[in-house]
Amino acid sequence: MSARRKLLPILCLCVIGLSVVGLGAGLVVSSLAAKTTAKPAVLRPPFDTLGARATTLLFVRCAGCHGSGSVRGGLDLSTRDGLLEGGDHGPAIVPGKPRISLLYRLITQQEKPAMPPGSKHLTEAEVALIADWIEVAAPYPPTQEAEQPSSAATFPMPAVTAIGPHIEESTTVTAADTTFWSFQPLRSVTPPSVRDGTWARNPVDHFMLAAWESRGIQPNAEADKRTLVRRLSFDLLGLPPSTREIEAFLADTAPNAYERLVDRMLASPHYGEHWGRRWLDLARYADSDGYEDDKNRPNAYPYRDFVIQALNDDLPFDVFLRWQIAGDELAPTHPPAVAATGFATAGPYQTFFMKKKDRYDELDDIVSTLGSAMLGLTVGCARCHDHKNDPIPQKDYYGLQAVFAGSHREERYLVPDGGADYRHWLEVHGKPRQDLDAFEKPLQAKIRESRIADLDISEAEKELLRRPVDPSNQRQALLLGRFGTQLEVGDEVGEAVNPLDRQEWERLLKQVADSKAAAPPEPPRGLGLAGSCAGRAYFLERGDPAREREAVPPGFVTVLTRGRPRWQATTWTAWDSRKPDQGEPLPRTALACWLTDLHGGAARLAARVIVNRLWQHHLVEGLVRTPNDFGHQGDRPVFPELLDWLARELVENGWQLKHVHRLILCSSVYRQATATDPVKVRTDPDNRLFSRRRPQRLSAEGIRDALLAVGGNLNSQMYGPGIKPPIPADAIFATAPKHGEVWPANAVDGPATWRRSVYIVAKRSNPVPFLQTFDGPDAAASCASRSTTTVPTQALALMNDPFTYSQARFMAERVQAVAGPDPEAQIRQVFLRALARPPHADDEEKATRFLREQGRRYPSNAQQHAVADLCQVLFQSNEFLYID
Ligand code: HEC
Ligand code: HEC
Repeated sequence: MSARRKLLPILCLCVIGLSVVGLGAGLVVSSLAAKTTAKPAVLRPPFDTLGARATTLLFVRCAGCHGSGSVRGGLDLSTRDGLLEGGDHGPAIVPGKPRISLLYRLITQQEKPAMPPGSKHLTEAEVALIADWIEVAAPYPPTQEAEQPSSAATFPMPAVTAIGPHIEESTTVTAADTTFWSFQPLRSVTPPSVRDGTWARNPVDHFMLAAWESRGIQPNAEADKRTLVRRLSFDLLGLPPSTREIEAFLADTAPNAYERLVDRMLASPHYGEHWGRRWLDLARYADSDGYEDDKNRPNAYPYRDFVIQALNDDLPFDVFLRWQIAGDELAPTHPPAVAATGFATAGPYQTFFMKKKDRYDELDDIVSTLGSAMLGLTVGCARCHDHKNDPIPQKDYYGLQAVFAGSHREERYLVPDGGADYRHWLEVHGKPRQDLDAFEKPLQAKIRESRIADLDISEAEKELLRRPVDPSNQRQALLLGRFGTQLEVGDEVGEAVNPLDRQEWERLLKQVADSKAAAPPEPPRGLGLAGSCAGRAYFLERGDPAREREAVPPGFVTVLTRGRPRWQATTWTAWDSRKPDQGEPLPRTALACWLTDLHGGAARLAARVIVNRLWQHHLVEGLVRTPNDFGHQGDRPVFPELLDWLARELVENGWQLKHVHRLILCSSVYRQATATDPVKVRTDPDNRLFSRRRPQRLSAEGIRDALLAVGGNLNSQMYGPGIKPPIPADAIFATAPKHGEVWPANAVDGPATWRRSVYIVAKRSNPVPFLQTFDGPDAAASCASRSTTTVPTQALALMNDPFTYSQARFMAERVQAVAGPDPEAQIRQVFLRALARPPHADDEEKATRFLREQGRRYPSNAQQHAVADLCQVLFQSNEFLYID
């Protein structure tokens, strides 16, 4: 990257040569085109032929000085004639003879002046490409006239002369860039040997202990069994251990009791719910669109369900990633794979495409989230300029955008046949609906027209609203955005029916209702991606949608790419008309394969990033403390060998996450107690070496779910549409009621809403206050670690929230049912349930006093109320809220 800085002065010179310092290249096109040719030549799509690749390279690297606008040295490379005619020193090439061609000798620095000038020479591969091209007599791809309408198969490229400074400026990724630690291949490491062989249980411990021994740090003792079962339960399931689970574990004296506990918990369906929530944070998942309209997304949840189910089934992580990018292409008849593409559509979305900018923002959201969540790279930083710290040029960024540019969001039927049966039924039996439509259409048009006439806008604008929808007409789109919903005609059509026709109308209505009743149920739908053509994305100068430059073909992150692996398409354009058995990868499929390709693609980084996340959640901090940034600005791993060892374990064991969970959980490192000593404080103040356990506060969902569990009320129904628990009326922001209910004002707190918090509807404009108070995610962008604030509103929520108190009452009822009227037995039950341990002597004394005094405040049912209050007091204790 440093090469770029050195290069800048040289580039500036060329720019001045073109006399367009920093101006938009749009200007360049017109001014230069006016001087030279009447119409700027527009290239055909970058067909991936030798000619196209070679000339594209020349345009990118040379056209700034050898285009039809600027002909330094008298050489114009924009046409084959120009090339053959050559410059001041004669023909630039001898067709078929690269070695004696002037152009070849200059780009290989055999002769001066070296081309292109400056230090940024062509790479070996590029030189080889030019040689091959001269060998076959240097063909140029055919050109076409500018005004010819662009069909789906053509990618209009700007005139040669328009390729100006912006792309020259683009960084070339060098071999040196690939040496950065996280971009390197996974090393095969042997765990180091240690002196204390008895403490280390598995290789994870060897890495740690070796580091500690060299610093004189003693490992902590193992936490007691109660602490361990509570820690494991919250860590794997996000729930407190049941009393039965605690007792079973305490009673199990077999040497592998702990390992079996780990296995039991990894097999629990609650595991997928808890860890799924973590992935949903990364995927910035929510059930509404965000922005002003914040339209509900009633069919977003199948993606959430896919994540939960995939983790429970231990779907290999590489497949998990691939499906989220291209599941609809890779396994089109498998509904979970189709639902998985909801990853791309989970982010905020401007409901009405009013501006081109919104489409670019949507693509940016996908590319940035993919970068952060799957690769731990801030790819989004290369939107407006080459990445300032990492070797990610803007063209890599737009290559990724191009991968998704040919796809769109769609609610797809989640049945193996993609809803074909249902659609077929509708087609065959759709007649009643057609008849009704034919009857209602003229009436609807009449009502719509009268509403348009009433609008307070100009006649021209009214006329625009009357015309058929034209997606390319921005003014119309704006108007529709403003008035579209208002003009929609629904049931009001009934009022316009002529009394004489009424009977006929009712007959048609009934016919539709009857056929509906007889119809097979509509299959469930899931929001995800559809469409698999090679999209068109344009290089945006400075990230500005108003400054679209040349089309960029689909591409990946260069620094992570080696060679030219099989998944890289040979003809991108063939994708448009691809037949399934043609074997050409589709752009998203190609990206998915690249992402999980260990040799030619990014799998090494993806594997490091995910094992770090597992470590992060198990041990409170990651080995890399910036889990979403493995680039130059990010943290360096404290135990790079351990990270690589874990990543290899993952890959070599079929990408099964549960295998890595087991390795970490069964280590002695994980089982340590929280105690600390002066040596640790001095040599490992920050616990970067994990020399002790650090207590961790429960997440927002963890607290709510724990309250439900200890109250005995957790409804463990999994999957399906989300729930809306009651929230205070003043916390319901009625921002966009026109798109359906914001939040029901009369929601009832009861079994139906007592499901796990991962099923709560995430409405972007209206977060649930209880979760928000405890740092729930905002779903605006990929979130790698929640913040844990400590603020007074949290204590207030636990004291005053009706939900907390009602769960305390339920818990008190259950405690009394189990323990009977004896206060001592009741106190014991309260502690066991809330804190997974019996009360200590002083707890018992304080609790007894509390029950007595609190009981006096209540005129009736005093004992029950007092126990409920005791439960609520414990809910506010650190011991309840933190896991040791
Ligand atoms: C920054 C501007 C710039 C760029 C970029 C550039 N050139 Fe040049 N090129 C020049 C200048 C100036 C000359 C004339 C040098 C001289 O005569 O001393 C030249 C001369 C040449 C000549 C010799 C022409 C002749 O007959 O004298 C060739 C061949 C050539 N360039 C090829 C290339 C190729 C191939 C590339 C891209 C890989 C490239 N140049 C990129 C500025 C540039
Ligand atoms: C929406 C456009 C845009 C995005 C996205 C963007 N930047 Fe920038 N950035 C700019 C502009 C404009 C400048 C000033 C001009 C320049 O240096 O190119 C700038 C300048 C900078 C500079 C200082 C310039 C220098 O060379 O010292 C740094 C550092 C930087 N950006 C880092 C980042 C990082 C990190 C991200 C991602 C988190 C990012 N940028 C994302 C537009 C953007």
